[in-house]
Amino acid sequence: MTANWWRTAVIYQIYPKSFADASGDGIGDIAGIRTRLAYLADLGVDAIWVSPWYRSPDRDGGYDVEDFRQIDPRFGDVAEVEALIRDAHTLGLRVIADIVPNHVSDQHPWFRAALATAPGSAEWSLFHAVAGRGVGRAEPPNDWLSVFGGSAWDPILDAAGQPTGFWYLHLFDATQPDLNWEHPAVRAEFEDILRFWFDRGLDGFRIDVATSLIKAPGYPDEHRAAGVEAGLSLEVVEGQPQWNRPGVHDIWRAWRRVADQYNPPRVFVGEVWADSPAGLAAYLRPDELHTVFNFDYMMCPWDADRLRAVVDASLSTAGLVGAPATWVLESHDKPRVRSRFALDAAGMDINDRSGPGDDALGVLRGRAATLFMLGLPGSAYLYQGQELGLREVWELAAGVRQDPAFARTHGADGLRDGCRVPIPWTDEEPGCGFGPAGMSWLPMPSDWGAMSVARQERSAAGVLALVRRALRLRRSEAALRSAAMTWVAHEDPAVLVLRRAGIGAGDIVVAMNLGAAPARVEGSEVLAASTAGIRTADGGVLLPPNTAVWLRG
Ligand code: NOJ
Repeated sequence: MTANWWRTAVIYQIYPKSFADASGDGIGDIAGIRTRLAYLADLGVDAIWVSPWYRSPDRDGGYDVEDFRQIDPRFGDVAEVEALIRDAHTLGLRVIADIVPNHVSDQHPWFRAALATAPGSAEWSLFHAVAGRGVGRAEPPNDWLSVFGGSAWDPILDAAGQPTGFWYLHLFDATQPDLNWEHPAVRAEFEDILRFWFDRGLDGFRIDVATSLIKAPGYPDEHRAAGVEAGLSLEVVEGQPQWNRPGVHDIWRAWRRVADQYNPPRVFVGEVWADSPAGLAAYLRPDELHTVFNFDYMMCPWDADRLRAVVDASLSTAGLVGAPATWVLESHDKPRVRSRFALDAAGMDINDRSGPGDDALGVLRGRAATLFMLGLPGSAYLYQGQELGLREVWELAAGVRQDPAFARTHGADGLRDGCRVPIPWTDEEPGCGFGPAGMSWLPMPSDWGAMSVARQERSAAGVLALVRRALRLRRSEAALRSAAMTWVAHEDPAVLVLRRAGIGAGDIVVAMNLGAAPARVEGSEVLAASTAGIRTADGGVLLPPNTAVWLRG
């Protein structure tokens, strides 16, 4: 693969706690990932992105990092990760890790050192320690909210447990204090962390909350719209004091210089929620990040006009700066695609999360959506278990839920555990082959084994077979690696048809029927279809509702 592998790559996201458990403690680990690399190579993905694997108290699924140069002992150690990278490279897979620069764990040595001093100290200057407002400075410095609910500020207490009148900033959980990126020591430390991992062969990083590192001087109020109860709604508004400040781009330019010193150059994908297409494109300039996550695509409902508009906007925004678009339907933060569309189909809000909605329709739409996504130009993400068509586990009891936002919002939000239930590798009870001891850190529902890898290996009709086929075609068909696509007009506005231009073997037509009536689509041969039984007749297919197909054009 070339140095430009990231432009067309399919990247498989691993949530290490839930992927494969080799040690038998009910928690996934690096050794478990190693045992499944052959499965991933056979699936046909180009790279893996592993969510945080660092030493962490795990108050936010590892996004609360205590030591960026140590692996969480429950997952393994640095030598094991080096072996993982070596094994992956041998199989032709790249390895991307998560890096979390906005905040650290409250157990990080820097924060512990700060707590042992008074605000105003050199130790506190690495964080945002700000005087409160009101009598006795007893109120937070401003109106900013934590993304996980409640104020973004917590009081700094003295050794006797009394308020100091100063507050520290945490845009996420109170156990995740924000770092002060105006401080040169913070910048130097992270560039050193990048080198630490790049020197060990890591191919790149997914950058957690890549938009929030610089805060507006003076910490002004953001004057939020009434009714907003958590700090990052889907509507990121221009000029907000804590997101998308111009100064953040200097950081990414400096990181890019580090990445470009390696051969092959290392790559970055940013978690970016921007306020405008131009704002998003700014992160993708040639001297900044290589790609960014496409949240608009992920959150698009089952609606042909809106989906088409999101595809067009994504391509034109990335195209402004010569970057590839990316596509994503699932992650460790959002309900499974099948279940989102099941809600949608039942007329429920896509963010409703009370589930299950119309699961039968969700199954069809989830399969179709995954096939359609893999037919778009650029780079695509698959979240572990998406290739099995797993559903959201809505029914997890409050007592087993671990998402910190669940507690901070008194159960109103923070339902991210339902997409983090461990992977069913077999249908053997208990534990579905996740680990040798049958244990799993989140309980598996009774239908889990039926969706397992082992079961689907025995069936040509499963989602696994569909994804495998699509990924094989992405490799064998030059048309699917081309950078461009064109829409093909269709008389039914609920049917999306696009053409990928090929050289030699010809064009490939990708189509999805989001409407209620079957629709004819022209093409000479069915290469892949999201449901069985779609055949060509008279130079085309009759595409049923809730179905996607790839045809030779
Ligand atoms: C985004 C990550 O995807 C999410 O899981 C995490 O909770 C927040 N950033 C905070 O790090």
